Amino acid sequence: MSAETHSNPLGKFGVWFAGRLPFFYSTWVTTLGSVLSIIAVFLLLMALVLNVYNHLLHRPVNAYVGTVTFMLLPALLILGVLLILLGTVIHRRRVSRGEAGPAAIEIGGVEFMRKAAVVGFMVLIGMVLFSSFGYEAYHYTESTDFCMNVCHEVMEPEGVAYSRSAHANVECVECHIGPGAEWFVKAKLSGLRQVAAVLRNSYSRPIPAPVHNLRPARETCEICHWPTKFHGSKLIMRKHTESDRENTRSVSSLIMKVGGHPQPGVRATGVHWHVDPANEVRYRSIDDKREKIVEVIQKTPEGEIRYLLEDEEFGEDEGEWRIMDCIDCHNRPTHIFETPGQALDDAFTAGLLETDVPWLRKVADRALWELEPGDDTVAAVSNFLTETYAADHPDDLSALQADLPNISGVIAAILERNIFPRMGITWGTYASNLGHMDLDGDFADTGCFRCHDEMHVSEDGLYISQDCDACHTLLSERETDPDALPDFVADFLSEGE
Ligand code: HEC
Ligand code: HEC
Ligand code: HEC
Ligand code: HEC
Ligand code: HEC
Repeated sequence: MSAETHSNPLGKFGVWFAGRLPFFYSTWVTTLGSVLSIIAVFLLLMALVLNVYNHLLHRPVNAYVGTVTFMLLPALLILGVLLILLGTVIHRRRVSRGEAGPAAIEIGGVEFMRKAAVVGFMVLIGMVLFSSFGYEAYHYTESTDFCMNVCHEVMEPEGVAYSRSAHANVECVECHIGPGAEWFVKAKLSGLRQVAAVLRNSYSRPIPAPVHNLRPARETCEICHWPTKFHGSKLIMRKHTESDRENTRSVSSLIMKVGGHPQPGVRATGVHWHVDPANEVRYRSIDDKREKIVEVIQKTPEGEIRYLLEDEEFGEDEGEWRIMDCIDCHNRPTHIFETPGQALDDAFTAGLLETDVPWLRKVADRALWELEPGDDTVAAVSNFLTETYAADHPDDLSALQADLPNISGVIAAILERNIFPRMGITWGTYASNLGHMDLDGDFADTGCFRCHDEMHVSEDGLYISQDCDACHTLLSERETDPDALPDFVADFLSEGE
């Protein structure tokens, strides 16, 4: 600490700086501010170089680099500068009160070097801490854990359904955000808005689907699923249970022509014909759930075909246009809510419910429609079943009672994983588009039949096909008689009986 400015190694330059650079003032607030700003500037430069580098190589920009560059580091820099200013003010005050020591430290002097070493050391530690903590923290906000813990009540239904799906090991963000800085920042900003809505308790229940700002499937699903993969045909067999006294087993079986590209360059076939960019289909729906589709445009090598919904009145510019992608059919790839019928069919197939309790399928279905999960769902189900059997099927009450605790448990579990009263979610709130049945398992204008209903007609009289064989070859439809089935389907029907 010396004021011998005449011998400053940097000459006049050093003398001038010695009095001015707040960095050299000896308050710790300024020192801390300097450390933070140096770290911020260094990391900003590094992140910028990385961004430019990735950009030049046309590589997807790492999401963390994006946020760190655009949000965290500038904030850090501002904090550092504010601290420096604050330190300077404090120092000035001390000087005016005559409390401060020497105003400046000689650049290049011993004290300068000592301070520079301390600052350098702190910068180094800070860089390591900031980059690893920052990375970890942002990694955590990317995790399924975070989504589920921060918004437990809001996200519970989606989380419960997700954890039972084929995608249970795929992080929420891989579908909801995907790679790249731009969407990451968008998502974090809308995430902040969502957290605010949760705090204010002002979010909508149920959370609306479709998610209108969901990123295009091209940039999420297609990172894992190769869109031009050829899937061939797929045998689908679904066991059902009919609502008669015997809970008769039946089976629907069909060969689904999933298709895709048989070879590069060859026209795609089957259901995944839609995924071939050469067959782009775009549509206009006039309701928020995209259920009512009034206009469809199909791109073909010869030009576009425009199909209009017949016999309906609607405005020319009403509604929302969308290019069809994976999510228009696979809208429930992971948040799969069951229909009551499906849930019961699966429970019978898995052996959780026994067909030898007469009328069980029918009464269980009523229980699912009439009850909601609550504090003691099992007891509520148990009461409902007992009362209904006593009233409608008194002769079979004893058969029910023999297995009542198990049956009530199974039905309660189905209610609890599909119905969430606090979030306004009940049967059909989030229906799947992968098919054409309604909640009762009857044919309906849903899913594929929103377009494939032969009601969407072009000027030349072309319509979007409802030919049963276009999508699948039907082997059986809720068939109960084994003799009417191909042998291997009959074997499947009797399996485990
Ligand atoms: C395999 C991809 C995928 C994963 C993984 C995924 N989601 Fe989704 N999620 C979707 C799709 C697709 C939709 C939109 C459905 C639609 O538009 O009809 C959606 C919709 C939602 C909705 C809106 C309500 C609804 O059910 O439509 C919420 C909330 C949600 N997801 C939360 C989550 C949470 C929380 C996780 C992680 C536990 C998660 N998602 C994981 C694909 C995914
Ligand atoms: C991070 C990778 C990843 C992403 C992103 C992803 N998937 Fe998957 N998907 C998988 C894996 C792995 C499986 C196979 C899981 C299994 O069979 O257990 C799978 C299976 C599937 C299946 C067949 C299984 C079933 O449920 O019948 C469909 C359909 C599917 N994905 C659609 C989608 C759609 C639509 C999206 C985008 C919304 C998507 N996937 C996003 C990895 C991914
Ligand atoms: C026109 C509707 C439609 C579109 C668009 C669509 N799919 Fe499918 N996809 C289906 C149907 C129908 C099936 C068979 C249903 C089943 O397995 O129950 C299927 C099956 C699949 C399977 C399972 C195949 C198997 O062999 O089990 C995967 C994976 C899949 N689709 C992924 C995708 C991806 C990724 C996209 C977007 C690039 C996409 N699909 C677009 C309707 C569609
Ligand atoms: C938004 C409207 C729309 C929806 C929804 C839709 N399609 Fe299509 N689909 C079309 C149009 C348009 C065509 C071309 C006209 C035609 O072949 O009838 C087509 C053609 C097809 C074809 C014939 C492909 C070929 O080889 O020529 C199949 C198979 C098909 N769709 C299956 C499905 C399935 C399965 C679903 C439901 C999971 C579905 N589509 C949902 C509009 C739609
Ligand atoms: C545009 C494509 C398409 C057309 C046209 C179509 N289906 Fe389907 N069908 C599907 C899809 C997709 C599923 C769902 C498969 C699944 O459950 O995974 C399905 C499922 C079914 C099932 C099984 C339901 C079950 O769970 O038991 C039956 C039965 C069926 N279709 C009958 C028909 C009949 C009859 C026609 C003709 C009037 C027809 N379909 C026309 C696409 C189509």
